[in-house]
Amino acid sequence: MLMIEHPVLGKKVEEEITFYFNGQSLKARQGQTVAAALIANGIKKFGVSRKLFKARGLYCANGRCCSCFVTINGLEHSISCNRIVEEGMIVASTDGDPVIRSEIDGN
Ligand code: FES
Repeated sequence: MLMIEHPVLGKKVEEEITFYFNGQSLKARQGQTVAAALIANGIKKFGVSRKLFKARGLYCANGRCCSCFVTINGLEHSISCNRIVEEGMIVASTDGDPVIRSEIDGN
């Protein structure tokens, strides 16, 4: 749910932008966090837990719990509640452990 007109603060309309979640084109308001944009589009499941594969999503909304990890523009395990959504941003659910650099390098 997006509040356009606040009873005390008045009307505030930000420019609409487009981003992508798991290949789906979605709309967001400039200045929203990625997590807020996903919730505003009805998406509550951001990924699954690494051990039990249970649904994860927004929990603390202030960068402390790590429940809202997603992959943003190829960067795995980005905290979506702290990151401002950008035009054309590519977001994907994170469904497992990140690729560790040593696995890529073979070290
Ligand atoms: S919801 Fe807790 S870190 Fe994002």
